[in-house]
Amino acid sequence: MNNTFKAIKISDHVYWVGAIDWNIRDFHGYSTNRGTTYNAFLVLGEKIALIDTVKAPFEREMMARIASVIDPKRIDYIVSNHSEMDHTGCLQNTIRAVEPEKVLASAMGAKAIEAHFGLKDIQVVKDGESLDLGDMSLTFLETRMLHWPDSMITYVDIDKLIFSQDGFGMHLATGARFADEIDKNILRVEAAKYYANILLPFSPLVTKLLKRIGELGIDIDIIAPDHGPVYRENPGWIIDLWGKFAEQRPTNKAVVLYDTMWGSTDLMARAIADGLIAGGATVKIHRIRDSHRSDVATDILDSGALIVGSPTINNNIFPPLADVMIYLKGLKPKNLIGAAFGSYGWSGEAVGHLEKMLEEMKVELVHESVKSQYVPDDAVLSKCREMGIVIAERMRKLSV
Ligand code: FEO
Repeated sequence: MNNTFKAIKISDHVYWVGAIDWNIRDFHGYSTNRGTTYNAFLVLGEKIALIDTVKAPFEREMMARIASVIDPKRIDYIVSNHSEMDHTGCLQNTIRAVEPEKVLASAMGAKAIEAHFGLKDIQVVKDGESLDLGDMSLTFLETRMLHWPDSMITYVDIDKLIFSQDGFGMHLATGARFADEIDKNILRVEAAKYYANILLPFSPLVTKLLKRIGELGIDIDIIAPDHGPVYRENPGWIIDLWGKFAEQRPTNKAVVLYDTMWGSTDLMARAIADGLIAGGATVKIHRIRDSHRSDVATDILDSGALIVGSPTINNNIFPPLADVMIYLKGLKPKNLIGAAFGSYGWSGEAVGHLEKMLEEMKVELVHESVKSQYVPDDAVLSKCREMGIVIAERMRKLSV
């Protein structure tokens, strides 16, 4: 076993034994410009538990960090809070190396682990069940569909610590293991991006979970997610932030999302933005060929309006817009108003397709679409500007 990688103590009885993925830039379609971490944790009681593992290529790193604290063979239990491959990719090999007494997961987790790896002897733990480690216990709480059916979180009573798996996580590779060592603005941006791209469709369940945690009355001093930093100072900060994300309250920020062939739809987008600004709104413009879909989703999280434009090509919308619109629809954003716009040469179907897509996303269309044949003239650009002003006014009323 190499001794390059060391564990980091995060509480009286818990060590971080995860891995840092400095180079990942695409996490199943989500742009991870700052990389990520796969966090695994070692709980040292009279019995020893490993909480989650790491993505397959990082097995050596995790095993070395474990070995820097204990002989890995001393691990009695492996708890799988979440069976997605970034946390179970090396589970099979870890079981072989460690030979634990038990591997534990939720009922859905046990099924998923069997389906992924053919592993059958997973001990199922129920919601609220505890595992005795001798001088402390681990308690499991199911968090179904946050964000997989198998998801659960694990509470260590003695350290008042929650292993929250993907919950309260972010994709951020850093040498700092604790949130209080990292710039708050970076934390806020990456937390929002993570929530928008992973959790947004499950916001009602997030609200329920936060309520349940509050009602349980458990003391939480530390939150240790499976990605990003550990919260040891003011863990309420990330809990409150998630509460706000889940609400998706209407704001006066608008996203103008579009693409262009010969500059006409681009000109219309800029005229709409000008109207939005004149109406007092905050504007984010995304010409989608220059923006990543996951950054658009992040902007949508705290927006009150989505205004989408496309030229017509082969009776349809521009293909890069199809990509981002399908992605956004799947994320189920709420409380949005919007409109469509676009240029065309002779048939002009794109705007109608966009209207339909917005309606399917339950975006309330609050202004008639604006279409321009070929190059927009002054009258068309005035309509675009007017659209921006009207939408800004509506957002202002909705956001109070
Ligand atoms: Fe980090 Fe859902 O896996």
